[in-house]
Amino acid sequence: MRIFLGIFCLVCVTTVSFLWVRGVKSTQPPIYVFPDMDFQDKYKPQGENHFFADHRNDRPVVTGTVPRGSGLNEAVTFSGAYAYQPALNPILYSGKNADESFYSGFPVAITHGLLELGQQKFTIYCSACHGVLGDGNGITKQYGMVATPSYHDDRLRNMTEGEIFNTITHGKNTMLGYGDKLKVEDRWAIIAYVRALQLAAHAPVSDVPSEHRADLGL
Ligand code: HEC
Repeated sequence: MRIFLGIFCLVCVTTVSFLWVRGVKSTQPPIYVFPDMDFQDKYKPQGENHFFADHRNDRPVVTGTVPRGSGLNEAVTFSGAYAYQPALNPILYSGKNADESFYSGFPVAITHGLLELGQQKFTIYCSACHGVLGDGNGITKQYGMVATPSYHDDRLRNMTEGEIFNTITHGKNTMLGYGDKLKVEDRWAIIAYVRALQLAAHAPVSDVPSEHRADLGL
């Protein structure tokens, strides 16, 4: 019995002497039995770093960096003529007028370069479904995506540029949006190219310069 009481007292004293510090504030660092991942070799924000000449951990952003997903055109953004800014040029970014109706026309200048950009982006992003001619006969039709419309229907020929911009940006029914993949400028370039395809599909022979008519076998 005496041995039992002795051990019992010892256990009590040991437990209490360990537990009494619980909840007591201390300026000493805690004892880490299992440090987990509390201590790592890493650079903390705004810390000191002697590897770099300016002794800063934070590295300055490389000159000319454009935030990802901003859709900003670097050349234009840093030229001073900052037209690619939603607040300054809402039509460019939404394809909509102030009253939310779709804008008709192009808020960018149509140049040969823009059409070439449009052709390139259209071929990459749209032709798989809409076909290189825009007639809706892309490769996906063979795999069952039969709902892809032709751009040469009157409905799409009469559609405003703003509505096409909206479709490219947000998608429509089974067509997903491309707003996260195509810069604003790319989207308008594609629309210009779609217009060129529509024009080509409905052009009368009289539109073909006479010296090229022979190429058509006419
Ligand atoms: C994965 C296939 C696919 C791709 C890629 C695709 N489209 Fe479509 N597109 C469709 C389908 C399907 C529809 C018909 C959607 C509906 O109305 O059900 C459609 C509809 C449209 C329409 C008509 C929308 C309307 O209001 O009826 C336009 C304009 C259009 N696409 C333009 C584009 C452009 C420009 C691109 C490239 C940026 C593109 N599409 C890429 C499948 C695609």
